[in-house]
Amino acid sequence: MNPYRKDFPIFQGNDVIYFDNAATAQRPYQVMEAMREFNDSCNANPLRGLYEWSVLATERYEAARHTAAQFIGAKNDSEIIFTRNTTESLNLVAYSYGLSKLGEGDEIVISIMEHHSNILPWQMVSRNTGAKLVYLYPQQDGTFTDEELEEKITDRAKIVSIGHVSNVMGVTNPVRKIADLAHAHGAVMVVDGAQSTPHIPVNVEELGADFFAFSGHKLMGPMGIGVLYGRQELLEEMPPFLTGGEMIEYVTQYDATYAEVPAKFEAGTVNATGAVGLAEAIRYLEGVGFDTVTETEKRLTRRLMEGLRTIPEVTLYGSEDPDKHSGIVTFNIEGCHPHDVATVLDTEHIDIRAGHHCAQPLMKFLGAGSTARASLYFYNTESEVDRFVEAIGKVRHWLGY
Ligand code: ALA
Repeated sequence: MNPYRKDFPIFQGNDVIYFDNAATAQRPYQVMEAMREFNDSCNANPLRGLYEWSVLATERYEAARHTAAQFIGAKNDSEIIFTRNTTESLNLVAYSYGLSKLGEGDEIVISIMEHHSNILPWQMVSRNTGAKLVYLYPQQDGTFTDEELEEKITDRAKIVSIGHVSNVMGVTNPVRKIADLAHAHGAVMVVDGAQSTPHIPVNVEELGADFFAFSGHKLMGPMGIGVLYGRQELLEEMPPFLTGGEMIEYVTQYDATYAEVPAKFEAGTVNATGAVGLAEAIRYLEGVGFDTVTETEKRLTRRLMEGLRTIPEVTLYGSEDPDKHSGIVTFNIEGCHPHDVATVLDTEHIDIRAGHHCAQPLMKFLGAGSTARASLYFYNTESEVDRFVEAIGKVRHWLGY
């Protein structure tokens, strides 16, 4: 039996197979307990009040920032900005850095494997500044050739923004190599870590990331809290994204000066409860250990892919090597729409995602209108994988073939 399942209230007393972890992970009771404890002992508006509860709330909020900084190897806590999610983090970089630094003749380089959160903000910057959006195209297995990287990342590039792990292919991109190329041409490196932070250790210094975005809910924290890491010098020279309370130093009728980073980028009352929950999720994940996470995912992914390969009507996307999937297996069943696949699986209490996975350009590139996706995490089990493969073998029959 998987020793971690007992920590997850949602898995108790039912037979649901939850294979949609790339969309959101489940939460252990420790995370909910930490949030309840904050609520019951010191809920007050942080950073504002001079009384004990508010001071305690501020301390907890800043401790959560420290936990997040250590989790991704940031040098200073002030390089951690709390946002709502990866999408908001990437929008912050696009609106603040992108709009103020880019212009006609500049290029923004992204890849066709990005999810919409790492495409639409750059489309906006491109439309508003005249900078050109340039796409990197991978090979069938999701890897980039050196020629593709060298041809597309040139002196015109001012921003290179790449997903660390693809939410459809599961492939881990060679971020360090891309960052070195970006820096050699004077561009900043933005990394979308939504799918990597739950699965592999991250160190922003080692990755060469100037900006790094991730969400709390994908690593077992609550929804509505995310992080943007930014290099201190860059954050200091950037204009604010959102304006209002708490991000100011001094306000007159027609002007204002701004607070230091990170407060400059955290306008309004912050999500301290969410930050406390995120910090607890990070501690829980570190307690499980990335070795266990990776070993379990690899073992289960291998079993799942081997099982699916025995079903002739199944097409698998991405690398042939299960170890290169980060627990994400995207597939189609001949003659069956992925929505129908997900719907019949639901009747068997199996949860997967079907559709375009917030990555429509990639679907087009793969030649698939949509796909089905099973995404695993360390709390899943071999018997769940076996039940899943057995169900997939019956889907065509259930759909009338
Ligand atoms: N981007 C998230 C996913 O892959 C929502 O499901």
